[in-house]
Amino acid sequence: MKIKKTAFLQSVTDWRQCPKSQLPEYAFIGRSNVGKSSLINMLVQNSTLAKTSSKPGKTQTINHFIVNDEWYLVDLPGYGFAHTSKETRAKWAAMIDEYLQRRTNLVNLFVLIDSRLEPQNIDVEFINKLGEFGIPFSITFTKADKISGTKLNTNVNQFLDKLTETWEELPPHFITSSVTGKGREEILDFIESINNNNL
Ligand code: GTP
Ligand code: MG
Repeated sequence: MKIKKTAFLQSVTDWRQCPKSQLPEYAFIGRSNVGKSSLINMLVQNSTLAKTSSKPGKTQTINHFIVNDEWYLVDLPGYGFAHTSKETRAKWAAMIDEYLQRRTNLVNLFVLIDSRLEPQNIDVEFINKLGEFGIPFSITFTKADKISGTKLNTNVNQFLDKLTETWEELPPHFITSSVTGKGREEILDFIESINNNNL
């Protein structure tokens, strides 16, 4: 798919303020600093569209971008951000959970996993919650440029193995790097195939 046009629409803290239009929507979630905003920028080839930072906790709101006037990309805050109060963390978690459960045009949630790490409970628990919510999702391993191919394979397989403990069928998965552009075509093809059934 060709990205012809992208625009930032709005930054909100409540799902009720999301755009009224029911265009197909794709959101990005994962631990703080896993690379959500960077991945969005890599997909649309615009390094300044979503705000990124080397410090975790950068994205704190629900951010809508529109692509080709046809579909939405949504940058969400991370979960598990340690350097903030318990109250703030609870508020973000409630905002995200409500958004995920109420936003009916959310056709796929990309759950980002740091490919350098062994399976983390916080990620597995989050994914299992998506099962309870009934939200369509896929897994995206990030920062693949930062480790060797062998270690990458080991971590990816370990994570997918871990999911088979709770899931009968594995979701689609992608291996990406926002630095090299790895995984871009695969993700855009995936989005296009879903759009073709939704537009
Ligand atoms: P929060 O909004 O704080 O939850 O973080 P985020 O998940 O949006 O992460 P962000 O995209 O801001 O990236 C965090 C840091 O990781 C930044 O310093 C990025 O440059 C770096 N980063 C993100 N993706 C990659 C990648 O694929 N490769 C490398 N080497 N660095 C990356
Ligand atoms: Mg971010």
